[in-house]
Order: sequence, then structure tokens, then C-alpha cells
Amino acid sequence: MNNFEFYNPVKIIYGPGEAARAGAVVAQHGKKALIVTYSDVSFFGDLFDRLHSSLAQSGVAYVDCQVATANPKISEAERGIALGKEHQADVVLGVGGGSAMDLAKVIAAGIIYPHDIRRMIKFTHRDAAYQIPPKAALPLVLIPTLPATASEMNPTAVITDEVTNRKSYVWEPACLYAKASILDPTLTLTLPRYQTACGAVDAISHVAEPFLFSDEATFGNLALHDRLQMAVIKTLYENAPKVLQNPADVALRGLMQFSATIALNGWLTCGVQGWTPMHQMGHVLSSHFGATHGATLACMMLAWMRHFAARKQNARFRLFAGQLFGTEDLLAAADAFEAYMQGLGVQTRISQLGCTAADVGALAQGAVDVSFSADDTLASIPPITREEVEAIYALAL
Ligand SMILES: [Fe+2]
Repeated sequence: MNNFEFYNPVKIIYGPGEAARAGAVVAQHGKKALIVTYSDVSFFGDLFDRLHSSLAQSGVAYVDCQVATANPKISEAERGIALGKEHQADVVLGVGGGSAMDLAKVIAAGIIYPHDIRRMIKFTHRDAAYQIPPKAALPLVLIPTLPATASEMNPTAVITDEVTNRKSYVWEPACLYAKASILDPTLTLTLPRYQTACGAVDAISHVAEPFLFSDEATFGNLALHDRLQMAVIKTLYENAPKVLQNPADVALRGLMQFSATIALNGWLTCGVQGWTPMHQMGHVLSSHFGATHGATLACMMLAWMRHFAARKQNARFRLFAGQLFGTEDLLAAADAFEAYMQGLGVQTRISQLGCTAADVGALAQGAVDVSFSADDTLASIPPITREEVEAIYALAL
């Protein structure tokens, strides 16, 4: 295990009905809230009205900032920042899935940030001087409605610059942790099937990546991190089909929600590497084809497994396959994983996302532009080259 520091100050308030406390929680951090959420909130039912009432009862003024879309954009953040400044908001309440919560983070920091907000984001890994991390943000309260990204308990925000077509992230523990997050599983009961399934696949990938790219020399023997990670992976894996069959089961919804939060709140990767090459390649699929994040991860996890079937350095992949599918044959495991994800109703091939063989070069270039390091590789264990990135995209067709 490597040396590490762990810091996570997010207060988690979990339970059915806890969203009713939103006003009291926000009131601890400000008097005027900017509510960052989707442009269309009709699928929230009466949640938005209930939040308004809760804030008003707690003496918190509010301004609605309905700008978020799936794969949120820099221009949406700029609109939110302008609105927050205009109304002198002193606290940001993010409501929704990862898109809305990540946008809330960029807006909370952007209201204070003195530079072009593009410079807040790691839009290139080659030039370490490009990114100017935010030093401060307005206090942030988050209410997730989609178990997936764990944005509610990590200091990461993912956003797309629609001008350059680059999707990347900012990770800043100094100011992008929420003060509090309210995990109310009743808010997820009306999630559409596809969003539920893609959220589960995303959460699985958040643990599968550190498992697959671990630098722990534990081949053949599960270490503490392997056991912790596999527990979360198996919980998500086994319960995703059940929650699709029983979408109104609050206990199951809550289990998926808390599992997704644990999957990427930092705890599972203390002392081990946290490379996310599948996410980096998946982001290109989203920025070029508007693909749903979870679906891009389904395609990438399968293609990586198949690619590593032919590589000698694949011990972690074989361990993963053995644990989850009972075989160290990576091709057989990938077939089983693909059938599983098809059963969830998630796309498993990038051709289903709109890509053709003619797009592979541009996709690889997208990964190079954003995610390749100065040594011309994509960080993973082992690091991979552009040729391998192209091979993996081609395998995913
Ligand atoms: Fe993700």
C-alpha cells in the first residue's frame, strides 16, 4: 500500500424522506440559494415544489438555475455563474444526477474564480500549467436523484467544452466537496429504466477501474482493497437487475444509492492507484457522440477485457474475471459481462452509440488531446499507447 492522505468532509444524510430537511441543511450555510438543476424538472414530480417550500420554511431565499443537461457544458456553467452573481447567491444547492451536481460545483467555484472557467478544468494532461485549480467555492449542498457518479461525496466535476469538444474534469479537495449531501432513495423511485441501468454500470466501473489498474502486488490473493472493492462491485452487479425488476423497492434503491456513493468517495482507493483510462476513453464517446456516460463505460469495460485477453500483463483482469464470472478466460468473461449488460438494456458496442470504423482515428485523437500525458501514453497500469487506444475502440465497435 502506498502512502496516502484521506480527507472527506461531506456530511451524508441518508434515508427515505430526508429530502424534507433540505431547507434546514441549506440554512446552515447561507441565506440565498442558487438551485442548480436540469432545464426540465418535470420528471422530478413534486420534488421541486417541496424543495421550494422547505427552503422558504427555513428562511432561505432561492433562485432557480435550470440550466443543466446530460453531459453538461461550459456555457451552462457560465449562465449559472452569471445568475448567481446577479442575485448574490451565497450557497449553491445542486439537485439531480451527476450532470446537475457537477455543474453546481463548477458554478459554486466559478462565481469566485478569477479566470476563464475553462482554465479550472483539466482539458489537457500534457500541459500541467494549463489548469489553474479553484481555490474557493460557495458552500455547496447536494441532493442526488440518480445513483451513479458519487459526485455527492467526492470533489470532482466533469464538464464538456463545446467549443473544443473536450470533456474532462476538475478534482479539487480544497473546495469542491459538498458541505452536506442528502441521499433520499425515494427521489430515485421514478428514475427511468435506462438511467437506472446506466447509473449502475457507471458505479460498477468506478470500482472496476481501480481494481483492474491496481499497483498492489496481490495476484492470486485478494488484499484488503480487493475485498472492499469487490464487495461494492458485487453488490451493484447483483442488485442492478433486481432494482430494474422492482423499481418501487425503496430498500433496494437505497442500497444502490449508498453503494454508488461508496464506489467513488475515495475510501476504496486509499493507498492504491486510481487511474481511470476507461473513463478517459468513454468521455471522448460522450463529447463526440453525446453518448450516455454509463453506456460508454459498458462498451469500454468489455473492449478492455477483450484487448487484455491477448496481453501478457493481464493478471488483474484475470483476477477480476475470476471473482465476478468464475473464469479467468477473459473472452468468456467479457461475453458473460456483455450478456449481463444487454439484460440491463445498456448498449455494449460503440456502433450502437453512432460510431463507425471511420471514427476510430478521431476518437483516439480525442483521447490523445485530452488525456495523454507528456510521455505520449494514457495513464493506466501499464500505460497504453495511441495504437492500443485505437485497437480498443476498434474492438468496441
Ligand atoms: Fe463515471
